Amino acid sequence: MNFAPEFISLLRETSKLVALTGAGVSQESGLRTFRDAQTGLWAQYKPAELASTEAFRRDPKLVWDWYAWRREAVKGVRPNPGHYALAQLAKHVPEFRLITQNVDGLHHMAGNQRLIELHGNIQRVRCADCYTFTETWGDDTESVPQCSVCGGLLRPDVVWFGESLPRDQLEAAVEAARTCGVFFSIGTSGVVQPAASLALAAHNHGAVIVEINAEPTPLTPKADFVFQGKSGEILPELVKVVWVE
Ligand code: OAD
Repeated sequence: MNFAPEFISLLRETSKLVALTGAGVSQESGLRTFRDAQTGLWAQYKPAELASTEAFRRDPKLVWDWYAWRREAVKGVRPNPGHYALAQLAKHVPEFRLITQNVDGLHHMAGNQRLIELHGNIQRVRCADCYTFTETWGDDTESVPQCSVCGGLLRPDVVWFGESLPRDQLEAAVEAARTCGVFFSIGTSGVVQPAASLALAAHNHGAVIVEINAEPTPLTPKADFVFQGKSGEILPELVKVVWVE
């Protein structure tokens, strides 16, 4: 991949950089993106129909089992070169904020400690009623495990359709987007709000917008630099050319 000299200089000079990632960055770790068809038992369901408060109310066990299956899938996967490149980038840019919509924990595993998780994390489990977190639970139970404090149903600590994002995480993300010099949108279809509007907030405040995605998205026409391809290939090369060489 060829990076224009002015693009390389811009990145070297920037002190405030934000990256927003989506399911595409984990695709090369072997995880399906959110909008890809599911496999096996779950092929008949659309993720958006399971990741909702409505679905949990209707059939808590079905939703619990889907997340147990997803937790199992995540257990076996490792970060890929895209995750590691972002962890390396963090060491070179003075004010770097990584914002993710992913719930898989792979950025953290790759070494990105200061992470804004907009949609939560599937490895955390809490009570649906009293919000108490629990460290241990059974995934193989007949019915959804219950909270040891209030008896409410346990659920993953993720944001479902119909729910608000964690306020502190969203505020930190909006502030970072509004004040950065360069905003990267990586491996996200950019169709789910409010995450999708972060790139526009950055654009409206004068940031340079860079997109890395396997295919065009609604953000593409607004981006200043577009790299079409796999983030696990483009990011390591970019970090090497800009900050390491
Ligand atoms: P999507 O599944 O909507 O989009 C994945 C994006 O990654 C697509 O635009 C693909 O073109 C791109 N892509 C796939 N493989 C790639 C690769 N190797 N390198 C670069 N790009 C690649 O996932 P998100 O945008 O993350 O929310 O979805 C956003 C939110 O929608 C999710 O967090 C989830 C869902 O509703 C909740 O669960 C609340």
